[in-house]
Amino acid sequence: MHSIYQYQEFISDYLQSQYETKEPRNLYEPIHYILDLGGKRMRPVLTLMSAEVFDADFKLALPAALAVEVFHNFSLVHDDIMDDAPLRRGNETVHEKWNVNTAILSGDAMLILAYQYFEQYNTEVFRDLAKLFSKTALEVCEGQQYDVDFETRDDVTIPEYLKMIEYKTAVLVAAAMKMGAIVAETSKENADLIYDFGLNLGLAFQLQDDYLDAFGNPETFGKQVGGDIIENKKTYLYLKAIEFSNDNQKEQLLHLFSIQPDDNSDKIESVKSIFNESGASDATKKAIQDYTLKAFDTLQNIGIDNEKKDILRSFGENLMGRKV
Ligand code: IPE
Ligand code: IPE
Ligand code: MG
Ligand code: MG
Ligand code: MG
Repeated sequence: MHSIYQYQEFISDYLQSQYETKEPRNLYEPIHYILDLGGKRMRPVLTLMSAEVFDADFKLALPAALAVEVFHNFSLVHDDIMDDAPLRRGNETVHEKWNVNTAILSGDAMLILAYQYFEQYNTEVFRDLAKLFSKTALEVCEGQQYDVDFETRDDVTIPEYLKMIEYKTAVLVAAAMKMGAIVAETSKENADLIYDFGLNLGLAFQLQDDYLDAFGNPETFGKQVGGDIIENKKTYLYLKAIEFSNDNQKEQLLHLFSIQPDDNSDKIESVKSIFNESGASDATKKAIQDYTLKAFDTLQNIGIDNEKKDILRSFGENLMGRKV
């Protein structure tokens, strides 16, 4: 096994080796721009880790890992249009730096490039990877549509929210890990268990993303803090605040989430106060921990050494402590 830092380096090096200068520039430059902004590269790291956990050489999993990362970046480029986001990884979003049409088409091209990485695998592995990927990609679209639909609804429930984040975020983390298992050609049981591990980790991850969107440090977060509040996103924080708050706070929150002021700073501050005072912030932190522990439970049944389970567990623990 390797360290997370080493896996990130392998991914960067492999990515750079794939670049070629191609025309038209306005199609390929935004692709290289967003990929070079990097990010945590959590999903491809998980693919490589998973392959090694199941005794394959990480090199075998590099194309699959990059497929996941390129797909993830495609989803971010389109997500930033949908969320009207100005900032990504501390830099201008693609649709702000270029324009919306460019972001749409460069995003589409990334989705196709992602699929092309599977062509490097033999028939059986190719089929399993492509099948899992197509199912996952469609679920991400479904999750993204629910996310947008929920912006204008005021009756979203916690189970609906959980389904939405499972689809928009958790299934890709789960699939990233299962792809490592597929490439390693481990048993179906192991592949399904590592998928479950990734799914619960992914749920914890999105809950934390929601938390950081409101309470992250604007200096280091890399995205617009308060973006979800501006967009009236029905996050766990919001839903728990509605559940826990008194009549007065609840009325205030419903009102704040029905307006679109020119200057959002007062709205953001008021909403954050209600999140904290109602106990919604604490409930969210608790849920992050619960889903992470649920992920750890599934590790028990995987047929791998305890040493490897410890490595996966410590990845999950590190993720809980993240600030970006
Ligand atoms: C952001 O993902 C989108 C979500 C699903 C929350 P990451 O937080 O993994 O973004 P990067 O790739 O590290 O920038
Ligand atoms: C993004 O969820 C999920 C996908 C991109 C599929 P968010 O909209 O919360 O992600 P960020 O916060 O913009 O990274
Ligand atoms: Mg977004
Ligand atoms: Mg979004
Ligand atoms: Mg977010």
